[in-house]
Parts: sequence; C-alpha cells; structure tokens
Amino acid sequence: MLSNHKNYISIANIKTDSNTAVDPSNPETIPKFVDELPIPYVARPSRQYGYYNENEQFYQITMLETRHKFHKFFPPTKVWGYNGTYPGPTIEAMKDTTVKVKWVNELPTKHFLPVDYTLHGTADTPEVRTVVHLHGANVDWNSDGHPEAWYSRDNKFVGPKYTRDVYEYTNHQAGATLWYHDHAIGITRLNVYAGLAGFYIIRDSLEKRLKLPEGPYDIPIMIQDKQFNPDGSLFYPDNTNPPVDNPQPSVPNIFFGNTIVVNGKLWPFLEVEPRKYRFRILNGSNARPYILRLSNGGVFHQIGTDLGLLHHPVELNSFILQPAERIDLIIDFSKYKGEEILLMNDAQIIPSPGMDTVMKFIVKKELSCPDFSQIPGELSPFHTIDPKLAVKERTLHLDEVTDHYGRQMHLLNYLMWDAPATEKPKLDTIEIWHLVNHFGFAHPIHLHLLHFEILGRKEFSSSDFDKNGNYIYKPNSLTPPLPFERGPKDVVRAEPGQVTSIVMHFKEHAGNYVWHCHILEHEDHDMMRPMVVEAN
Ligand code: C2O
Ligand code: CU
Ligand code: CU
Repeated sequence: MLSNHKNYISIANIKTDSNTAVDPSNPETIPKFVDELPIPYVARPSRQYGYYNENEQFYQITMLETRHKFHKFFPPTKVWGYNGTYPGPTIEAMKDTTVKVKWVNELPTKHFLPVDYTLHGTADTPEVRTVVHLHGANVDWNSDGHPEAWYSRDNKFVGPKYTRDVYEYTNHQAGATLWYHDHAIGITRLNVYAGLAGFYIIRDSLEKRLKLPEGPYDIPIMIQDKQFNPDGSLFYPDNTNPPVDNPQPSVPNIFFGNTIVVNGKLWPFLEVEPRKYRFRILNGSNARPYILRLSNGGVFHQIGTDLGLLHHPVELNSFILQPAERIDLIIDFSKYKGEEILLMNDAQIIPSPGMDTVMKFIVKKELSCPDFSQIPGELSPFHTIDPKLAVKERTLHLDEVTDHYGRQMHLLNYLMWDAPATEKPKLDTIEIWHLVNHFGFAHPIHLHLLHFEILGRKEFSSSDFDKNGNYIYKPNSLTPPLPFERGPKDVVRAEPGQVTSIVMHFKEHAGNYVWHCHILEHEDHDMMRPMVVEAN
C-alpha cells in the first residue's frame, strides 16, 4: 500500500514581499513588524432571557476552536479562543458593579496539544476540561475558577469542586488590569497555550479623576511566546523532561517558545501619535520572563503594578515582567516625534534570534487632537498593609524532587497538590509568607483572591532558620522591593537563593482557593497547593 506521507506539502511556504520563503518553524525567516498590533475587542454585555438589571452586567462567553492568523504570511493556525477569538474579548468592569459571566465550553472533546496522563487530575477525567479563573479578582471561591471546578463540553462532566455555571464578579477592588485564563487541573499549560486568555479591566472613579490617557490611548498588551511547526500549527513539546521513555507524552520541565506574539500577532507594530499613551502590559507566557526597555533609551512612567496604582509614578528605563505579572505605564511619544522605537527584551534565557525584540512603535501619525492627559504627581492613596498586624508567619519552601518516572518535579513546601491543605488562613487576618527559593532560578509565585505587598528579599543560609525550620524574620535585614514592585501585587518573583517576604490581608471571602507557581509547566507538575480561607 502506498504511504501518503510524501503527499505532505507545507502550505506555509508562501512567498513574501521580500520574496523569501517563510517557514513558521524558523523564526529567522519570519519578517517582523508586518502586522499591526490588534487591540482585543471589548465584550458586549447581553441580556439573558430578557433579564436586565442596570446594577450588573451579564455576559455569555463561549470557548471555541477556531483558526487564527498569527502573521500575515502564515496560514491560519488552529487555536482555542474565548468567543472564538485569541486573545479573548476584553471585559470592561466598573469597581463595585457586578459582572456575571456564563463561561461556556464548546471545545472539541480531544485536545490538539500533547496531554500527559500522569499528572494530577488527569486520570478518569475527560481529556478536555476547562475552568475560567479571573486572575487578580477578589471573588467568592465558587466563582474563582478553582482548578477542580472544571467542566467538559456542554457540562457533560464536571469536577469535584464545580458548583455553578454563571460566575459572579463583584469587583470590590481598586481599578486594575486583571486577566482571565483557563485553570483546569493538569492541563492549564496546554489550554492557555492554545489561546484561552483575555483581559479584564476594572475602572474606578478615583482613577478617572487623574486624567490619565484614555480611550484609544489606553492599550492593553499581552505578550506571549509561541512556537510553530513548519505547517504553521502550534508546537508544544511532547517529551522533553528526561527520561525520554515512558510516559509519552510527558510534561516538559518548562517551555520557552521561539517567537513573540503580542495581542495575537507576531512582532507587530503600532502607529502612534506624538502624545501620551497608557499601556497595560501583561506577560501571558507559560514560562518566559521579559526584561523590557525602549530601544531609544526612553522612559516608562510606571503608574501601577498588578492590582492597582502606585502612590506616585516611577520613572523606569527597564523592568522585569514574570509570567502573569502586569505593569501599568505611560509612554510620552511627544518626545519621540518621527522615531521608530522598538520594545526590546533583555531577558534572553536561551539566546535565540528575534527574542530580543517584542514590537515596534512608529511615531509618525499626526496628533488628532490636543493631548490633555497627564502624568499626575500623586496617583493613589492606596492603603498599605501593616506587617506589624500580622497574626501568622509561614515559611514556605520552593524545591524540587524526582517523580516516579524520574522527572524533575517542582513542589511547594515539599507537598504535592493532592496533599490536604496546609495553608489555612483565618478570615480577616493579616499574614506574612516567607517564600524560600532553593532553586537556581526565579519562580513567579501567585496567590488567588487578594493582593499582597512585597516586604523585601534576603539571601538565606541555614542560620536564618530555627530548629523547627521556620524562617527567623528580621524586618531590617531585607532588601526592599524594586521601584516597579512597590504597589499591590498578586505575583511575586521568588528570587533564587533568597527568601521573599510578602504580607497580605484575608479580608472578604472564605473558601477554597489556590496558590501556585505561574510557570504553567510547574503549576501542572506539581507546584500548586490549596489555600483554604477559614471563616471564623
Ligand atoms: Cu493566573 Cu491561578 O492563576
Ligand atoms: Cu490567579
Ligand atoms: Cu516555578
């Protein structure tokens, strides 16, 4: 019988303007700055069965398999998107106004990326399951998107923590840039990589009065790394965490793509007017950190961190963004009239061509109207959490072991996901957590439900721990957080060989939440733990 393998033709070998063949698997052949930066569309609230209440907004958002153009010269690529778009639609919310979302799973029942059946939550569960987590939300646990609150297509099967199909976000929190993404147990890395991520922006009246750039001059930017096969389909490794025998497929230790995608396009450009723009930059990558700067040495006026505004703007020439971190900043292009400026990435983990460049700003547009926006001297009276009021300190180790397939596995406090909860803070208390990173590299540690503040970091040695292994906290010995970290955070870089101390207030909701490393390969294997907030 004839094999038809030879009939395979890569439809991606399309000639470009410059007459070179584009091979999606080879970044050096992909021309940069040919696509304009897309701005994800804003989701429109709908009425459900005539239901209408002006104090709340209702949305129905459906997860669909679709085809997406990552690049002008690529064939359409199979992705999964909220409402069939990648990134998903942006949800615009007002502080204290309730948003309800029915997140519907209409995805296929087979995954198109390699599923590892040895990971937590993967046995006896449907291959494709989803649950939407609103990252950064102060929310009741039933609407948080707990990894075990998953459901399969049409809710045919649901996970043990599934309780409802309409999520309710009260938005009792300051204006900030949140994002929603998939969080299904054991396959989060694959579902997010497939395209299940979008912005959720909370606005508040306080912020409105500051006259920051708004409307078309307030732009969310989601940076993700991806890798493609020669035919333009998404590549994700199926076995790179040694040994290469069983299991097949097997989760990688970590995965870095070799291209940069911004709001869904590879290395896009944005034409801007010579005026101030606000950018809400999100690192939506599975694992890759970025150190961003402008090619002309220009300044960023940082106005906010993950979950809200700073007290005062901070001028930066560069900053680090780990997976899931956000930064809110203003660039004043009036100083750069006529220039073309690249957004550069100085964090080169494995140097590969093109990963030093994110996108291009072209300052050639005419000013369409005068720029009355401001970079105010004072931003927000954001309330700091007093560490002296903490009722509990926790020492939490970040370390690795070998799993029974001989693979490297990352753990929090030496416990796997399935072990009973050990982090059980009491409602309305303040705690200090000391993250002790024994690895040789940083992990972005994320807590659901709340914002925290970074107290500081310190290199540790054995003398920093008492005989029970608890960290001996000496507030004055800490190196304070970097200028761009001094606001409300929900992800923190736990630096290698250091203790990173954070303080948080369990203020409003009790129930089942989680905390984890936001390197998604780590989260799935097995660097995630329950966090149960206990009502008094
Ligand atoms: Cu952005 Cu638990 O996640
Ligand atoms: Cu989260
Ligand atoms: Cu990690």
